Amino acid sequence: MKQQDIDRIAASLDALECKTLKEVEEARVRFLGKKGEITALFEEFRTVDRDQKAIFGRLLNELKQKAQARIEELKGKAADEGSSDGPKIDLSMPGDPYELGSRHPVSIVRQEIVDIFRKFGYDVAEGPEIEDDYHVFEALNFPANHPARDMQDTFFVSAGHLNPLLLRTHTSSVQVRTMEKMPVPIRVICPGRVFRNEAISARAHCIFHQVEGLYIDENVSFADLKQAILLFAREMFGPDTQIRMRPSYFPFTEPSAEVDVSCNICHGKGCNICKGTGWLEILGCGMVDPNVLEASGIDSKRYSGFAFGMGLERIAMLKWRVNDLRHYFENDMRFLREFAAAPEV
Ligand code: PHE
Repeated sequence: MKQQDIDRIAASLDALECKTLKEVEEARVRFLGKKGEITALFEEFRTVDRDQKAIFGRLLNELKQKAQARIEELKGKAADEGSSDGPKIDLSMPGDPYELGSRHPVSIVRQEIVDIFRKFGYDVAEGPEIEDDYHVFEALNFPANHPARDMQDTFFVSAGHLNPLLLRTHTSSVQVRTMEKMPVPIRVICPGRVFRNEAISARAHCIFHQVEGLYIDENVSFADLKQAILLFAREMFGPDTQIRMRPSYFPFTEPSAEVDVSCNICHGKGCNICKGTGWLEILGCGMVDPNVLEASGIDSKRYSGFAFGMGLERIAMLKWRVNDLRHYFENDMRFLREFAAAPEV
């Protein structure tokens, strides 16, 4: 056995380069495998003279340790560089945290309203956002060219026809579709997105959400409407809530009313949210106009009903005292995260 053999192997270990884990394994076999160069030296060691055994024994063990360390080092490098043996995976690394989303405040409020009316026995109905003039206006007693159409500035999709397509300005259109399809008695609420051609400001937006409701049966009276709204307001804003109704006008209801709830912030004393009045406006409602019932094939002599409609952003604004409507549409994460802790409803 010669010192040079050991030095030569040590030098080639230093010079060793491996790009892949496969090459590292080949190098291991070349030096340390059963027929490897270092293994061969160990075989040869048996024949070494007694007096030299101690020296060569130490040198050989050092060489073997060097080889093992070098192979480990190369293995680590090849794995880091992402060898062709597959993607590098370090199972000890901490995982990527999941960003937990939260429900949008409008969704939270919609769900709350839907749950309240479900308890009263109402079903949920939905309809198209792109509607025709008939279902948004005509069937709801807005005669052609009637100025009431200006109450809701409309986005038209295709103008110039007798029955143009447009983006619905309220979900009352879903109530018409329900009356056309379903037998009386009818008890539905229609949540959905609506569109009006309005300048965007803190108090108005061209897209918002409504929940409208419709109840038709024999002998439905204004007292029933008032009671339904009162029960809803108390579920939504607390058991001490009072309501008041002010006369109003909608083409599809007669009589019509606007409903205010007592301000749940100052409890009627007057604050800047209720502008010192003690009352907050939340919805419009009324007894369904007989013309509307007849237009959808319901006998207005036998049946009567009430309808109501409210804006979800407005209810959300009152609930969370957010004073700028635009927050609900901008998807600013800082705003949305505020609702992450909102109770599951
Ligand atoms: N459709 C009305 C609106 O969008 C709300 C409403 C619904 C009023 C039902 C009365 C009855 O403003």
